[in-house]
Amino acid sequence: MRGKLVVGNWKMHGGLRQNDALLADLRAGWQPADAREIAVCVPFPYLWQAQAALSGSAIAWGAQNVSEHPIGAHTGEVAATMVAEFGCRYAIVGHSERRAMQGETDDAVAAKAAAALDAGLVPIVCVGETLEQRQAGETKTIVLRQLAAVIARLGKRMAQMVVAYEPVWAIGTGKTATSDQAQEVHRLLRDHLRAADTTAGDVSLLYGGSVKASNAKALFACADVDGALVGGASLKADEFLSIAIA
Ligand code: PGA
Repeated sequence: MRGKLVVGNWKMHGGLRQNDALLADLRAGWQPADAREIAVCVPFPYLWQAQAALSGSAIAWGAQNVSEHPIGAHTGEVAATMVAEFGCRYAIVGHSERRAMQGETDDAVAAKAAAALDAGLVPIVCVGETLEQRQAGETKTIVLRQLAAVIARLGKRMAQMVVAYEPVWAIGTGKTATSDQAQEVHRLLRDHLRAADTTAGDVSLLYGGSVKASNAKALFACADVDGALVGGASLKADEFLSIAIA
């Protein structure tokens, strides 16, 4: 059965002192329950801190990116195996900010997802359309194209990933997709995954984009929304935990 998964994406926020407080508050406030999991994806330099603060708790942690390469002359890059050494369970790959600002292609994102799996991490593969693409009626084409690259690369291993649908126009804008909009795309993704491989029909599908405690419940009520990838609201322990139990 697909449980509920709520993942915080800290993006490029944090600092040693504030992380200590946030991680301690999360650890103290999280009430583990069956079929319910939370995780935080933190900047690379803070992976050790997340590991130290969360080891032995029911909260998982992860990175926000990994290199598509296993090792070598790639200055400034971080290999999935390095991330895995810090006890990570997850690695976000293909976040729209990286696709837009770092020029990550569908193929590069698929290679990153494979590198994460090779290192024993669960890739959280992000897909989503821009406002212009939605207005042009291209939402389905875009998300299926992004997903297709990952399916082609992972083959049977696709069942081990998590997919996050994050409409670019909803990220950090306060404009959440309606439940109907989210469900429509999630359904499409699930049908497509199931058609590609029967075991992939149970892949966890997270929604992301301005998720808050006030809108989480309605989103989670959708049949094919299994959780959330939370940016801004994951920086406040109370808000994040409220989303997780919504
Ligand atoms: P947001 O970010 O919740 O701040 O909109 C979500 C994300 O980019 O993962």
